[in-house]
Amino acid sequence: MEFYNPVHIFAGRGALADLGRIASRWALPGSRVLLITRGMDFVESPVRRTLMEALALYDVREEEFPVSNPDVIDIAALLTKVRGRAYDLIVAVGGGSVMDAAKTLAAALHTDISSTDGLRRFIQQGGTRPIPLTPWIGIPTTSGTGSEATPWATVWDREKECKLSFSHPDNFAAAAVIDPMCTLTCPLSLTISSALDAAAHAAESYWARRTSEVTRAFSLLAIRLIREHLEALADHPDDERLREIIGKASLYAGLAFSNTKTTVCHSVSYPITEKFGVPHGAAVALTLGDFMAYNKDAVSGYDDLLEAFRCGSAEEVKDWIFSMLRKGGFATTLRGCGIREEDLSYITAHAFTKGRADNNPVPVTEEAVMNVLKRLY
Ligand SMILES: [Fe+2]
Repeated sequence: MEFYNPVHIFAGRGALADLGRIASRWALPGSRVLLITRGMDFVESPVRRTLMEALALYDVREEEFPVSNPDVIDIAALLTKVRGRAYDLIVAVGGGSVMDAAKTLAAALHTDISSTDGLRRFIQQGGTRPIPLTPWIGIPTTSGTGSEATPWATVWDREKECKLSFSHPDNFAAAAVIDPMCTLTCPLSLTISSALDAAAHAAESYWARRTSEVTRAFSLLAIRLIREHLEALADHPDDERLREIIGKASLYAGLAFSNTKTTVCHSVSYPITEKFGVPHGAAVALTLGDFMAYNKDAVSGYDDLLEAFRCGSAEEVKDWIFSMLRKGGFATTLRGCGIREEDLSYITAHAFTKGRADNNPVPVTEEAVMNVLKRLY
């Protein structure tokens, strides 16, 4: 059994206000901090005010990165923009897109990459060799991606019609700061799709080929918390205690899949998001129940997984997930997502991301993917 996760975790109310003290573990006051946020409504938010007060003793350069599902072109442009100064620390405040961009920058800042093609090659080569990395702190404003706890970053490459993954074993965050004040204004639909993304991270990690007793403990904990509290949070989105619970659940799911990666549900979701614009968490959640049933005979501790979902079968898990999707205003059929029947073959053809589909406990065939897609149509 092997498990490695070096992220220093600071979780709970007040963690954000303590960011100055947290940051000083990696960069002394007065040193240069590159702060990356999503901009837009964040600029006037109480979260930003608390953040800037906490970093008052640092030389902060702030960059807004208001891009969802960033493309390699977007990150190359950001890299060009911030290059030219040395930074002692990167602080990323946002959802998965901001954190994945920051994570890629943490590695690419020390290179002389000056083009999209150069960055594409750098990402594809990944991290088998030691490279200088800038320490970074992840502060999620959605509860779901788990990016603050994993060493890889999703970068889309629409020109090549694929999803890249920048992966380096040392590119974990130095620290993750999970504070419920950061997610209080997260819209209902994003709250639900992000939490279902986290539930998928946990479930897929539970049955992934590299699952272990450590990751499985995190998986079950995450699923229990989401199942027990997500509906209440959807009804009471201002409840800080519930925000804190779901924030921690997302982190626990991140800790689980940081060592196992995800499987077929994520793999099939990528073309659904890339080509048809379905938000990541909703795209993953659509197939979770069906692939849970598909994997049933290969998952040891399957009953524990069902029990964590408070369900008696994968069909009941699917029903609960779909009820949450509807609460968030999401369609629960592919047709409802604006996908045409003839598009199913495109999704199937692009559903086999290396390291994800082949990480499923049961081998995944095109026929199996197509069957699930037809059922969901
Ligand atoms: Fe995900």
